[in-house]
Amino acid sequence: MNTSPIPAVRCHAQNDVLVIEIHNPPINAGALEVRRGLLQAVESLECTPEWQAAVIIGAGATFMAGSDLKEFGKPLEDPQLPAVIAAIEACSKPIVAAIHGAALGGGFELALGCDARVADEKAVVGLPEVTLGMIPGAGGTQRLTRRVGIARAIGLICAGTRVPTLEASRLGLIDHIAQGDLRTSAVQFARQLQGRKCRVAEETVPQESPQQIQKAQEAALRAGRQRPPVVAAIEAIKAAATQPIAQALQAEREVFNRLRLGAEAHALRHLFFAERQAMKPSVDDAPRPFSRIAVIGAGTMGSGIAIASLDAGLPVLLMEQDDAALERGLQRVRDHYAQRVSQGKISVEAATEREARLSGATDWQRLGDADVVIEAVFEELAVKQAVFRQIDLHAKAGAVLATNTSYLDIDAIASVTRRPGDVIGLHFFSPANVMKLLEVVRGRETSPDVLATGMALGKQLHKMAVPCGNAFGFIGNRIYDAYRRQCEYMLEDGAWPEDVDRALQDFGFAMGPFAVADMSGLDIAWRMRRARAATRDPRERYVDVLDHLCERGRMGRKTGAGYYCYTDGKASTASDEAVRGLIVDASVRRGVARRPVLPEEITRRVMLTMVNEAAWLLAEGVALRATDIDVVLVHGYGFPRWEGGPVHWARQQPRSALQCDMEFLVQASGHGARLGNISLLLDV
Ligand code: NAI
Repeated sequence: MNTSPIPAVRCHAQNDVLVIEIHNPPINAGALEVRRGLLQAVESLECTPEWQAAVIIGAGATFMAGSDLKEFGKPLEDPQLPAVIAAIEACSKPIVAAIHGAALGGGFELALGCDARVADEKAVVGLPEVTLGMIPGAGGTQRLTRRVGIARAIGLICAGTRVPTLEASRLGLIDHIAQGDLRTSAVQFARQLQGRKCRVAEETVPQESPQQIQKAQEAALRAGRQRPPVVAAIEAIKAAATQPIAQALQAEREVFNRLRLGAEAHALRHLFFAERQAMKPSVDDAPRPFSRIAVIGAGTMGSGIAIASLDAGLPVLLMEQDDAALERGLQRVRDHYAQRVSQGKISVEAATEREARLSGATDWQRLGDADVVIEAVFEELAVKQAVFRQIDLHAKAGAVLATNTSYLDIDAIASVTRRPGDVIGLHFFSPANVMKLLEVVRGRETSPDVLATGMALGKQLHKMAVPCGNAFGFIGNRIYDAYRRQCEYMLEDGAWPEDVDRALQDFGFAMGPFAVADMSGLDIAWRMRRARAATRDPRERYVDVLDHLCERGRMGRKTGAGYYCYTDGKASTASDEAVRGLIVDASVRRGVARRPVLPEEITRRVMLTMVNEAAWLLAEGVALRATDIDVVLVHGYGFPRWEGGPVHWARQQPRSALQCDMEFLVQASGHGARLGNISLLLDV
């Protein structure tokens, strides 16, 4: 029997229990049709005497993994979720949420509005709205808080934590864990309620000490960088203890509606969709099957890649040029797991299991088992080519051969093998087991199925895999290079390093470019600059402050001084006289009268530079989609997520001012600077 005319929600009676099933693939998002269907189903339940209770369950892989974000940028149509939940609570018969897959955002608010929550062992629940620039808007801040208390609610809601069944049950967010079939278990549970209503909204907030709440609040504000959704969420959660629920629900809804239409939520929704788009395979070909990874070079990157692969359940062979280097690499991996265990992040058993999947070798014969080989040796073409010749000799037919190069030409590396179609770039970021970004670089001859394998491996390693073309710096480093150069011009124009760093940090970057340069070591850039000196056009605007710093032994943090000075690892807040002297000399040589460069000018010039380079990347086909560029900057370069990325930023600017300022900037950047076609980024 199907009592609902709305196909997104289908009802079947199981004797005296009505089963309300949500059908809105792929994630059963709480779209308008679903809300309508649920409301009608609850009305039918109320007026049908044979039915004593109901179960709400999701068809397919999940309960309801969220609201329909596409609806959030405009006025919402009725019935809205709070009305559906109000109807569930007002209904005289109990309604049980049967959760499998995910109950997130509106999905979990719906579940919290029910009289009980039954979940299978593998489900996750959570309220991720804050990470999307909003707060929960259908009672999440009130009902969750009544179950877990204010301090815990602040932690869970402000971080958007996904809580697995077992923990959710411990916290009281799940009332029963289904053994066996979820639907059967939930129907049984609903029957056992014997008509009793158990409204979470009527429960009282558990008592906590003010210190506990204060501590949670401070931690959340710090982690959330005091962003408006975090501040608003804390306020809404605390209202659970001080306001009548009806008033608190109304206030929560108002804040939700204001934030969801604001710039921050708009930017975060943009990224949400951009991330999913980037991860979609860009080719139809199926990936090659892979189950064994070999990593060549067990340095900083190689050991990080090994850890990422072990964490993803793959066996890893780590290879080095000699026993001592191999032992150092293996030890780095072991130390990592020992630290994770001592921090309580993973169990001893999990660490032991992962380490057991790691092996090491210095003998090329061992390479033959690997399905994917990832090279992470020194960044020198000749060294990489020598390694690839060996890989070509020893890897099995059909293995994918990847390089982690940051700047070298993938085709030049592939050319020394007899199988350039199998070669690909997999550009991880440091630390490779932590950073989400993975640029998947296709060479001239890379086969589509090899590209598909790179993307699939990225997914398995829980990375944000972004496809890109083989050009200097790929997407990220190419933009970063242009951005850093622009910051150097600003030094010459009148800014000090700390002015630039502070302005960009205030804009939201994790760190400013000069602090980053000191951290990674100025010598890497210096080496590259010297390598390119012979071919550099003398008419190019070139700022030599970094070279002079290196000549004086100031290589950054590791030598105790770079743009800043370091005592006991702590950076000075301002550059010293020696650095300022070098900067002023550079201005004099350029014939520039130094002037104050204000924070607004600094951030605008940086953004315009990124946008200009992004336009070129798209024109040259290095980036497939404009939005991929935003994903790269946010996940690899500390670009503030709530600004959406440079492309999103550009789309929010008045077009004529953007065009005009970019023309001016390109001119000021001197010989060789080229104006990109921004309509490629803006006209979508
Ligand atoms: P690293 O110097 O820490 O490690 C390189 C390792 O390769 C050393 O342990 C060395 O012994 C080993 N090696 C050298 N020649 C070898 C050979 N013939 N056979 C086997 N092993 C050999 O360097 P790092 O930082 O790990 O960089 C490796 C690669 O990753 C470079 O291409 C670099 O550009 C790239 N990369 C580095 C990033 C970083 O932040 N460090 C970020 C992204 C990419």
